[in-house]
Amino acid sequence: MDRIVVLGGYGAVGREAATALAEWFPGAVVVAGRDLAKARTVPGAVPLQVDLRDDADLERAVDGADTVLMCVEQDNVRVAEACLERGVHYLDLSASHELLAAIEQLNGLAVQRSATAVLSVGLAPGVTNLLARHCAEQAGGTEVRIGVLLGAGERYGPASIEWTLDGFAAIGPSSRMRFPPPYGTRTVHRFPFSDQYTLAGAYGIDRATTGLCLDSRALTALLAAARRTGATRLLRRPRVRAAALAALMRVHVGSEGFAVTATAGTFTASFSGHRQRRATGLTAALLIRRLDALPAGVRHIDQVVEPVEFLSELSKHGFDLDLGTADDEPAHYDAE
Ligand SMILES: NC(=O)c1ccc[n+]([C@@H]2O[C@H](COP(=O)([O-])OP(=O)(O)OC[C@H]3O[C@@H](n4cnc5c(N)ncnc54)[C@H](OP(=O)(O)O)[C@@H]3O)[C@@H](O)[C@H]2O)c1
Repeated sequence: MDRIVVLGGYGAVGREAATALAEWFPGAVVVAGRDLAKARTVPGAVPLQVDLRDDADLERAVDGADTVLMCVEQDNVRVAEACLERGVHYLDLSASHELLAAIEQLNGLAVQRSATAVLSVGLAPGVTNLLARHCAEQAGGTEVRIGVLLGAGERYGPASIEWTLDGFAAIGPSSRMRFPPPYGTRTVHRFPFSDQYTLAGAYGIDRATTGLCLDSRALTALLAAARRTGATRLLRRPRVRAAALAALMRVHVGSEGFAVTATAGTFTASFSGHRQRRATGLTAALLIRRLDALPAGVRHIDQVVEPVEFLSELSKHGFDLDLGTADDEPAHYDAE
């Protein structure tokens, strides 16, 4: 590959992906964002100033690229279409179901132009899709539960925090899920990650749900209280939202650990480690290394790679993978 453009390539996740890609494809990686000085801070990459809201900027970024990795939530459908029209491969980190569903509609265009688009790229969605497929195939279960535990001490980028603040408005009922050591069984709150929607109907899965918790039990309890009292509605007010974003950018209480787990029947598998942004960026970079072998069209990660093989390769970068065994007892997940 001669030109891999990472849009949002100096953000929290984009930087991790661009750094790995610059090592694997020397001289081929372009890091793009609105601030040229920041784009220059990724070693081994070519900086490019781009504002995705501007048509001319978008064309300049996409023309001549082999692959575009989208690491920001900004006009994603328009960017995907610009790529696929030109026969440029496209990968998207977004966790927003409506946005991914709109990009799925570009499948005909992608096939016509012999381009591949991969969606559900990252940890959640991404690794969670692969764990869910693996569990469903092992257990033959019709219901899959996915749990996402995030470290409150991790430095999340503004785009991720904004997405999470939006998700608070749609936070659902709580349940219990078992995470790998040191976390144990935790209360998770249903959260609008896209994996639960795109997986339903595939691999014999009738119903999928995804729940979120933080490594800090106290903060997770605060989340639940905010939902119960309706405080999450306040986040729709621009001033409250801006203050929450600023506070979350500054405050880092807890660790940088993360864990994701999936359960079907009595079968549970998990993936865990430190710095979810690194796991997310590496997942994208590993997929780009495989792009030439993937078919044309728009697909989700679980439709283009084999879960055990891909997760085993990802885990070699310092993460823990538990491919699971069937327990005697079903995992605890009674609704609370
Ligand atoms: N699938 C997963 O597991 C997973 C995990 C984490 C995050 N994500 C997703 O990954 C994406 C990135 O998250 P993040 O935490 O890395 O965000 P971030 O740190 O805020 O990075 C966003 C990047 O996009 C750039 N950008 C913003 N607006 C732009 C515009 N109009 N034109 C060009 N560049 C623009 C930003 O730089 P400037 O502002 O300087 O332009 C920055 O480099 C989000 O969509 C998030 O939801 C997915």
